[in-house]
Amino acid sequence: MQALKDKIVREGIVLNENVLKVDSFLNHRVDPELMAGIGKAFAERFVDSSVDLVLTLESSGIAPALMAALELKVPLIFARKQLSLTMKEDLHVEPVYSFTKQVQSQVAVSRKFLSEGQDVLIIDDFLAHGEAAFGMARIVEAAGSRVAGIGIVIEKAFQNGHAKLAEAGYRVESLARVASLADHRVTFAE
Ligand code: G4P
Repeated sequence: MQALKDKIVREGIVLNENVLKVDSFLNHRVDPELMAGIGKAFAERFVDSSVDLVLTLESSGIAPALMAALELKVPLIFARKQLSLTMKEDLHVEPVYSFTKQVQSQVAVSRKFLSEGQDVLIIDDFLAHGEAAFGMARIVEAAGSRVAGIGIVIEKAFQNGHAKLAEAGYRVESLARVASLADHRVTFAE
């Protein structure tokens, strides 16, 4: 998606050869117009798939996932990393390890909103090692539903998440694929 790549080049800050800071439009401040375009781009990529709902992980996945859900005219569920006071009901819970943050969190979705027999599109802001996407896929499958696909805003193609997810049989669509962050420059894969 060219508008996203242009934004990354203009506003992205390469912190080191593994981490790209994009807090001006995705991870802290959010650019609504760009998000609307991202929603359309995901809807186009998954136009041939049956999708009953979109699933993401709080917090930075919510903005792009909401716009994708709006385009696809389906509900959005965001998995919680911190259980809210009101989440007392039956939950699907999966551990998700973050390589970037080196912490493990318990990710939860209420059984009330994710039941069996649904086609679920997983959306996330970043794909690195694929841990978050695998965690969400485990939740979908434990609920007796199916992963319709995985949509990623920014994939770090030099890390192994995409390959692992593809090997496991998931269709992964990334709107920007970063090939390298070496020399404080962003190079795209295609
Ligand atoms: P993985 O899920 O693909 O294995 O990735 P990883 O554990 O490495 O990522 C954990 C968190 O770090 C995620 O955010 C992810 O979006 C973020 N992250 C990974 N690589 C980068 C990067 O290069 N730049 C930025 N800006 N973020 C990165 P999170 O903990 O879920 O945070 P948030 O959604 O609450 O913002």
